This record gives sequence, C-alpha cells and structure tokens, in this order.
Amino acid sequence: MSKICVIGTGYVGLVTGTCFADLGNVVTCLDVNPDRINKLNSGIMPIYEPGLEQLVKQNVSANRLSFTTDYPTALKGAEYAFIAVGTPSGNDGEADLRFVKSAAEAIADLAEESILVINKSTVPVGTGDWVAEVIKNRRGNRPLNFRVVSNPEFLREGSAISDFMNPDRVVLGSEDRKAANLVAQLYQPLRCTIMITDLRTAEMIKYASNAFLATRISFINEIGNICEEMGADVREVALGMGYDKRIGHSFLDAGLGWGGSCFPKDVKALEHMAVLHGTHPQLLQAVMEINRNQRRRAVMKLRKALKNLNEKTIGVLGISFKPNTDDIRDAAAIEIIHLLENEGAHIRAYDPQAMENARSVLKNVVLCENPYQVAENADALILATEWNEFKQLDFSRLKVLMKHPIILDGRNLWDPETVRSYGFTYIGVGRGNTTKP
Ligand SMILES: NC(=O)c1ccc[n+]([C@@H]2O[C@H](COP(=O)([O-])OP(=O)(O)OC[C@H]3O[C@@H](n4cnc5c(N)ncnc54)[C@H](O)[C@@H]3O)[C@@H](O)[C@H]2O)c1
Repeated sequence: MSKICVIGTGYVGLVTGTCFADLGNVVTCLDVNPDRINKLNSGIMPIYEPGLEQLVKQNVSANRLSFTTDYPTALKGAEYAFIAVGTPSGNDGEADLRFVKSAAEAIADLAEESILVINKSTVPVGTGDWVAEVIKNRRGNRPLNFRVVSNPEFLREGSAISDFMNPDRVVLGSEDRKAANLVAQLYQPLRCTIMITDLRTAEMIKYASNAFLATRISFINEIGNICEEMGADVREVALGMGYDKRIGHSFLDAGLGWGGSCFPKDVKALEHMAVLHGTHPQLLQAVMEINRNQRRRAVMKLRKALKNLNEKTIGVLGISFKPNTDDIRDAAAIEIIHLLENEGAHIRAYDPQAMENARSVLKNVVLCENPYQVAENADALILATEWNEFKQLDFSRLKVLMKHPIILDGRNLWDPETVRSYGFTYIGVGRGNTTKP
C-alpha cells in the first residue's frame, strides 16, 4: 500500500487515482477547480466515463480515495505525486506547460522530505528535466530528495478504466533506475509489460504513438477520397488491408477525421518541437492537412447535395469527438457545425452525453432531445459520432419528419442499401459508387 497524490482530476487524473485506489493504495486526488471537487465529494462525476462512478464510490467508501482542492492536504505524507494536469495547445501549437509548472511549484513548496514526481500529462521532450529544475530552484536550500519519472498515459476515453487496468504496456522514463522501479511497483498488480527507458525517450514514445495513430486515420481517409472517385469501397479496402498481420485492422476507419483532447494538440506539439529543432516534419503536416480537409469535404458534400447551404436546416447526430465520452474538444461535429453556420445553415443537434458541454460552445444550435427531434424539417442529416443508439434508427420515421431525405453518414455506420430502401439519398465516406450525391 502506497500513499499517492494525483494532481489534476480530469479524464486521466481521476481514472488514474481511482484505479490506483482500487489496487489498494491510499490516493488523494487534487484539483484547482472547486466545482469539480465539490461534485466528486457529493458522489457526482464531473465527466462521463463508463464504470467510473461505481469504482469511485467503492473506493471512497473503503477510505482509500479522497478529493481535495487543498495542496497541503493532498501532499501530506505522499510518496508519489502524479502530475495529470492539462497540456493544451499554445498559440503556436506548442504544448502550454503553465499547469505543469504550477503543479511542480506546489510540490516544491509542500512535499515533505522525499517524493517521486511522476509526469503523466503528455509533455514535450525535455519537460521531465525542466520539471526537476523548477522544483530544485523553487525549493532553494530546503532539502528534498526527489526524482522525476515520465509515465505517459495511453488510456482512451470511453474505455479508460479497462485500458488503465489492462494496458498494452506501461512506459516509465527516468535517469534513475531505482526511481523507475519504485513507480513500476505500483503497476506490478496489473501483470503487464513495463518498459523502462530514459526520460526523453519515454516522453517521445507518447507523441510518436499518437502521431502514428492519427497518421493511420489520415491515411485511410486519403485512400477513402480516392475510392470515392474510383468506385471502390474504403471499408472493404481497410478490411482487406487489415488481414495482413503487418497492418492490422485498428485505426483504419474512414470518416470525418480524428479529434478529441489528444491527437490534434499532440500532433501539433510534435510538429512544433520538430520545426523548432530544425527538422522538416512533412508527414505530420500532411496528416493534419488531410484531417482538416476531411471536415471541409463533408460540408462540400452537403453543399453539393443541397445546391447551397444558405438558410438550410442541417441535423447533426452526435457531438462528442467519439462515442462513449462527453468530451467535445476538437470534435469533428463542432468544426463541421461552425463551417455549416458560416455558409448560412441552421443547425439542430443531439448527443447522448455531450449536451451539457455542447451548450457552452454551440450558442446558435437548437439542441434536441433525440434524433427524431433533430430530423424535424431538416434538409439533411449528418451522422458525426457513431454512438450505439444511432445504429438502429427508425428510418421511415426520420423520412416523414425531414424536409429532404438526405443523409451524410460521416462514420459509415449504416448499410447504404438499407438507408436507400427507405427513400433516402445516402452519402457515405469513401464508399465509391454509393457515395456521390
Ligand atoms: N484525455 C485523454 O484521453 C488522455 C489520454 C492520455 C493522455 N492524456 C494527457 O493527460 C493530460 C490530462 O488530460 P485530461 O484529458 O485528463 O485533461 P482534463 O482537462 O480533463 O483535466 C485536467 C485537470 O487538471 C486540472 N488542473 C489544471 N491545473 C492544475 C493545477 N495546477 N493543480 C491541480 N489541478 C490542475 C484542471 O482543473 C482539470 O480538471 C494531458 O496532458 C493529456 O494530453 C489525456
């Protein structure tokens, strides 16, 4: 049993803290957002993550998990301090390390005699060394025995708990093998592969992994665009490619492109780092450009189907950046909604979990209670997020409600022939002869 403090109680920090508590440790999760901590202390989850609420409640009842906004309380007696704060994009695409810095300063001010500082936030290569400097300088001549270990997180929103508990690997980076081994002990109960490397390499593994996954998606989207022109079906192409063990099936779904809280900012940050250090990251730049284009292409398809978008009503199904999360950061739906609005369209939208988050950024959108309300008088529908509940819609009911029966299936969720059999114009992504409006 170890005493752990987790700084930052977002998707990563809250899941990390809760899972470590579930593994028998005593964990205090800290956040500077009092609203978030008040909610957690009242048993209300500040984010939607399947299975999280029950696990939090279980561990709070067992006195292994607590929440606070008070740094001295959180750091009292802590042997491990995980930094899991946000690292959003700065003005030039660089990772903004403001929150990491203030967490490091708090550790310097309040840690007792010794502590292990673990960077779980996704941070630019070299940040571990910088955090060590920040702590050392701030601490001054008060002795503190500390080491910084990089421990990038690979969990996915929507399956975060199971990803944390069954990781493909845990990566630990440190110049001090003993420190890395101490962090490794926390993960021993998971019986997974633990890779120990140096600090900078660990930091780069995270960026390279996210950039590679984003590249796969942009790759298949580019192939999909070619398929559209040449009469092939990208879904079948991806399937056929994926049987090759060197390729595999994952992250080869053509659609509206990648989004979310990680890929966009991480690919940008890696590109920024690369340029800053004199290299020419042309693949990363192309991967981002293809992704931007994928959104514009969806709008272009709707424009083509409706002649022009001015004063047209478009219904959007799904707002979160992917199913099973309420996270709307850099979601394809948001960007497409803004592009449609710029062309004079009126938007109606619905998402099973992201309505509260959407309300603050989609000021002119009519937010609906279900897909059928979205369809009322719509000139076209676009499926932006492939939530399970959209898989079996009542297409005859939708058709009666809509002004024009046009559907852009942005995630290739439906069978084109089935949708067409209800009298719809079906437009997919990369589905060759079936795609053209
Ligand atoms: N979300 C993911 O799926 C995911 C997956 C892997 C890695 N990551 C990385 O993990 C990090 C955290 O991501 P997230 O999605 O959990 O972020 P988030 O925005 O959901 O949560 C960050 C939290 O940190 C808090 N915070 C900010 N400054 C603080 C401070 N000084 N002290 C205490 N709390 C502070 C914020 O109030 C917020 O609650 C990022 O670097 C991200 O790139 C995220």
